[in-house]
Amino acid sequence: MSSTAPLLDCEPTALTFRRDVYQGLAGDRKSLPCKYLYDHRGSQLFDAICELEEYYPTRTELSILRDNVGEIVATLPDDSVLVEPGSGSSLKTRLVLDAAKQLAAYVPVDISREHLRQSAEQLAAHYTELAILPVCADFTQPFDLPDAIDDDQTSTVYFPGSTIGNFHPDEAVELLSTWNRLSNHAALLIGFDLRKETATLEAAYDDAAGVTAKFSLNLLVRINRELDGDFRIEHFRHRARYNAEAGRIEIDIVSQRAQQVLIGERTFDFAEGEPIRTEYSYKYTIDGFAELAAEASWQLDRSWTDAQNRFAVVHFLPTE
Ligand code: TRP
Repeated sequence: MSSTAPLLDCEPTALTFRRDVYQGLAGDRKSLPCKYLYDHRGSQLFDAICELEEYYPTRTELSILRDNVGEIVATLPDDSVLVEPGSGSSLKTRLVLDAAKQLAAYVPVDISREHLRQSAEQLAAHYTELAILPVCADFTQPFDLPDAIDDDQTSTVYFPGSTIGNFHPDEAVELLSTWNRLSNHAALLIGFDLRKETATLEAAYDDAAGVTAKFSLNLLVRINRELDGDFRIEHFRHRARYNAEAGRIEIDIVSQRAQQVLIGERTFDFAEGEPIRTEYSYKYTIDGFAELAAEASWQLDRSWTDAQNRFAVVHFLPTE
């Protein structure tokens, strides 16, 4: 039996988007929340990034999953639920779902409603024995599991893609704590990028073909369209630098000249060379990440990595 629940809609309203953009651009250290990168076009561009030669995390994580799928899937209890915050196209999930016949349900959670609806439909058509219960939500805010899920089912939060690296370590602890409280029986299966040499890291976030630059600048295109902005995209550029001390890639949109931008009723001034910070991508060691997770009451159960130690997939259980 195949089942798709009605899609609850929690997509942020235009009002929230405008408020966040105004707030982010008002101060003298400008920033924009990275979650707004993922509109329909942004989600497509992100899928294209994952195919790039330079962007090794997706490929590497997939190889880890492929090489260890038996062991990884064995961590998921019978009749349990796999919950995936920020599921996107659920590409990596198929590998897990193909092998995890014991699962009762899959709950993709995504902010991009159309993208979510489409991928949920495709999954429901393909996995006829599995309940596909999509939730449209901003997963950085607490969300509820669909009613169809029982209190005594284990919910394993599956968070691949190194998305946890896009949160400041304090926020990451916050997020991991909310997932520990998501149900009576929780577990965590998470993928994150490991620290390595600067050149490899920087190329991954600024590819030769310019797909990542397009993805990054699409945020300005989105503001123009949805908030009546007049950003001249050609007067901004994408930049990605590795800050080795902080262990993070810093992604900025840099103004190429002194200029003014009108968004709705408000004007914002940019100096030449002034950055808008859009994202951090933190890199960890397995031990460093386990320490962070411990602050959110998770203990490391098992971990898997690739031969070059580029990326890690780790299973956590709640601390007793
Ligand atoms: N989670 C991805 C990462 O940190 C997101 C990402 C990849 C990204 N490339 C990007 C975000 C470029 C902004 C710009 O690897």
